[in-house]
Amino acid sequence: MKSLSKIFLSLPKVELRRGFYILILMLPLWTTKSVAQETNKNMDIEKKIDQLLSKMTLEEKVGQMVQFSGNSAITGPLKAVPRQLEDIKSGMVGSMLNVVGAENTRELQKLAVENSRMKIPMLFGLDVIHGYKTIFPIPLAEAASWDLEAIENSARIAAIEATSAGINWTFAPMVDIARDARWGRVMEGAGEDPYYGSLVAAARVRGFQGDDLSTVISMAACAKHFAGYGAVEAGREYNYVDISRRVMNDVYLPPFKAAVEAGVSTLMSSFNEFEGVLATANSYLLREKLKGDWAFNGFVVSDWNTIGEMLIHGTAKDNKDAACQAIEGGTDMDMATGAYRHNLAELVKEGKVDEKLVDDAVRRILRVKFKLGLFDNPYKNCNAELEKEMLLNPLHLAAARDMARKSIVLLKNEGQMLPLSADVKKIAVIGEMANSKDHMMGFWSAQGEGKDVVTILEGIKAAVPSTEVIYAKGCGVNEEKPVYDDAIAAALESDVVVMTIGENRIQTGEASSRGDISIPGKQEELLSYLLKTGKPVVVLLTNGRPMAIPNLAKNAPVILETWFLGSQAGNAIADVLFGKYNPSGKLTMSFPYATGQVPIYYNHRNTGRPEKPNSSRWISHYLDIPNEPVFPFGFGLSYTTFEYSDLKLDKTTMDRNGSINISLSVKNTGKYDGEEVVQLYTRDLVASVVRPVKELKGFKKVMIKAGETADITFTLSAKDLAFFTKDMSFKAEPGDFKVFVGTNSVDCKEAEFTLNLR
Ligand code: NOJ
Repeated sequence: MKSLSKIFLSLPKVELRRGFYILILMLPLWTTKSVAQETNKNMDIEKKIDQLLSKMTLEEKVGQMVQFSGNSAITGPLKAVPRQLEDIKSGMVGSMLNVVGAENTRELQKLAVENSRMKIPMLFGLDVIHGYKTIFPIPLAEAASWDLEAIENSARIAAIEATSAGINWTFAPMVDIARDARWGRVMEGAGEDPYYGSLVAAARVRGFQGDDLSTVISMAACAKHFAGYGAVEAGREYNYVDISRRVMNDVYLPPFKAAVEAGVSTLMSSFNEFEGVLATANSYLLREKLKGDWAFNGFVVSDWNTIGEMLIHGTAKDNKDAACQAIEGGTDMDMATGAYRHNLAELVKEGKVDEKLVDDAVRRILRVKFKLGLFDNPYKNCNAELEKEMLLNPLHLAAARDMARKSIVLLKNEGQMLPLSADVKKIAVIGEMANSKDHMMGFWSAQGEGKDVVTILEGIKAAVPSTEVIYAKGCGVNEEKPVYDDAIAAALESDVVVMTIGENRIQTGEASSRGDISIPGKQEELLSYLLKTGKPVVVLLTNGRPMAIPNLAKNAPVILETWFLGSQAGNAIADVLFGKYNPSGKLTMSFPYATGQVPIYYNHRNTGRPEKPNSSRWISHYLDIPNEPVFPFGFGLSYTTFEYSDLKLDKTTMDRNGSINISLSVKNTGKYDGEEVVQLYTRDLVASVVRPVKELKGFKKVMIKAGETADITFTLSAKDLAFFTKDMSFKAEPGDFKVFVGTNSVDCKEAEFTLNLR
């Protein structure tokens, strides 16, 4: 396994390297070990850890729990603070973040393993969120593909590139459930649904880690931010969180549990508090749930300075107090604060912290290092030649293009205006984002560079070489006094207008909450002028969050949700515009009617006075806006149409150990072959606690040829209906259930069954 990169680099011809590389991509399929082999390997690791621990001084142990930032993702590590270099040499640093490049990481790794007494290699962590050099669509966009294999592959390629550049640990996947689109970080996750979010979390973990962490192309993953960060009050970044234990368990924890079950190596604690206790010091979350109930044996890193921020929250009087609370709460590694580095050994010597807690944390950290194979070869990821071969490898770019087109969601297609004919004579491309390279990468672009991005304009030009394509910016995303003349003139002389509308990339992501999630600036005003020209107008939405777009949804005849799609954005969008790819994406977050509706999500609990047609005034509603979103969870159109029929249950009663088959037919009634995401939801009609009005329980993404019919079957069993009951035990309760199957969370066919637990 270790010599794979050597074999690869020794192959003389590009074709041979490519062939070999395709085999490497398939590697995780072959490396699956038997349970016995795995157990032996793990026992061996535990013995080695015992030996190491018995030789380490208290200070050396604490050193493993320290992570410093090289602050050098661009400029190189040796610009790092000299004191840090001394710390590395004396074994006082377990991990660095923000140091990139095979040569840079090799240099620092050398300092650790050649100078420190215990010769323990370091972990190099980085935010590799949706690609390293080849940038994939933002995670929320990828989630809209409902293609778990493609999502896993995207993470795999990110890992292949990042590991070739010295990184052995990514701070991803972000698995926070997000229901408030004001929060900028919704772009980093999979959306509002815990069931789907769990599947995506597991797929991303598998992608980053593969089946065997010790291969040269696997990196440790980190499920973050544990936990409840998605519920920041008012959607304001870094704000406090006040949710019940039930909501924490029902909604926010499931994707973390799924990540743990998929073997994730690490978790990151979040900035927020839960039940008044900072997540970084929260023993209910870290010790009781994570390390207790879920038997997680990897380690927990704090988020950036969350230990230090306890002082600002007012829950610790100084860094020493904060370090004491964090280790007791269950945080194993301190990101960036230095609170462990400077206080932990003293706390142990004073008898305030039990050394056993330190031993446990170090054991967890060493375990990950052993599993990564770093003790066998600390430089396994430091090969500059391999790095050159891997970054922006053509196979990666092809995968990024495919992922990008799968992520696009067709929101409206009046008069079947799309796909456009490749024979169109002249196209006007309008909007700031259409000609932007950097913005297409979205927030968190690791080592991605704008110069490697295909813009929307370039993609369109390349797709239709015999068409005249003209560009006019027309209106900057946030411009308040734009001049529209060029854009209107361009529209008037063209046959079709393609206009980008939305946000730019730094209006989403970390520290990018927005209090108003409607379309910024004057973009809609320009659209209204373009529509008046009478030319067909296609709107491409560029954004990292659901936006409140009631007017756009009404006025624009055609809307494609194109997010920020990464390095291959332009090519992917052109593939969809000209029908080379039939869009199949579906939203995983509701698009509100107005900012005042958020948080808004399809799986809300019922009220005692739900709105019904013709209901009176004394119901749960707004006086000025509807309750419904503009586009619901699961929504997305295709160039073809699908007809659902014959929903049948094979029985109407389910026993404790039994199951029910739910079948139906889906016919492609249009002219194009197309993929449909068939969605299965249930509702528990009477339960010991208030339950959601609908919950996703399954989906199938199927390709159906024009005119053909697919027969779909789902199987539900009692365990799929379990939830945290009144006494917080996790089980299904007997009674009546509704089943919904449909093309989105609103348009569904319904049936009923009874769960009988006797
Ligand atoms: C803070 C962010 O919250 C977290 O997601 C990220 O991994 C760290 N900074 C490190 O960059």
